[in-house]
Amino acid sequence: MSVTIKTSEEIQKMRIAGRLAADVLEMISPMVNVGQKTGELNRICHEYIVNEQKAIPAPLNYHGFPKSICTSVNHVVCHGIPSYKQKLNDGDIINIDVTVIKDGYHGDTSKTFFVGRTNKEIKKLVEVTYECMKEAILLVRPGKRLGDIGHTIQTLAENNHYSVVREYCGHGIGKIFHEEPQVLHYGKPNTGMELKEGMIFTIEPMINLGKRFVQLCDDNWTVETQDKKYSAQWEHTVLVTKNGFEVLTKRPDEDF
Ligand code: MF3
Ligand code: CO
Ligand code: CO
Repeated sequence: MSVTIKTSEEIQKMRIAGRLAADVLEMISPMVNVGQKTGELNRICHEYIVNEQKAIPAPLNYHGFPKSICTSVNHVVCHGIPSYKQKLNDGDIINIDVTVIKDGYHGDTSKTFFVGRTNKEIKKLVEVTYECMKEAILLVRPGKRLGDIGHTIQTLAENNHYSVVREYCGHGIGKIFHEEPQVLHYGKPNTGMELKEGMIFTIEPMINLGKRFVQLCDDNWTVETQDKKYSAQWEHTVLVTKNGFEVLTKRPDEDF
């Protein structure tokens, strides 16, 4: 399958799926506290998605993933597995990545939360990572190219002496969770596929405080930084519109 251009009917369904995914992050926000277990965050999100939203948590059983959300703490880059053995500590950061399927279509979004009191260095990493995602979203419009997105993210991250994870990327999304194109978070301006009205893809930079290198843990899911320094991530699902973009997973506190 190549890149799909969504019809207006599909876009309407993607808006609904995107809103539901955003709602899960809003719902779970007050529960992200010192002492909370990531397994409990998973349980609450799962129940909400299934029972309240009447939707499907896409990660559950996806290529064998065992839980309904990903919870990536501190030096975990992505795909952290929620567990009742893992408690959040003062000063932690945690990325919660939510993907729901509603009426056959996916909405995919993540946010990095602060737990208790976060030190200044880590706070800046999380904030700059958000700006990386935001700057990239703001330039989305027909005629721009995927390399422009990657370049914007890479430039802002590296100007702050951070590094960009290269092994994982954003992706087209629709009826299929991960479809073409791959949206790299690094690259060169004016290169790569041209954006067209009706494309939908995620932008989800993973930015490391230290070096860019990652390693896969023995559970075959959890991705960590090799140097064990912290990593942050944010993700939105974005539609290319006639004149720009629409963030399908926007939360009320965001001003896109
Ligand atoms: N939500 C992740 C993404 O942004 C993918 C998680 S796949 C899983 O693409 F299997 F780990 F859940
Ligand atoms: Co994604
Ligand atoms: Co995601």
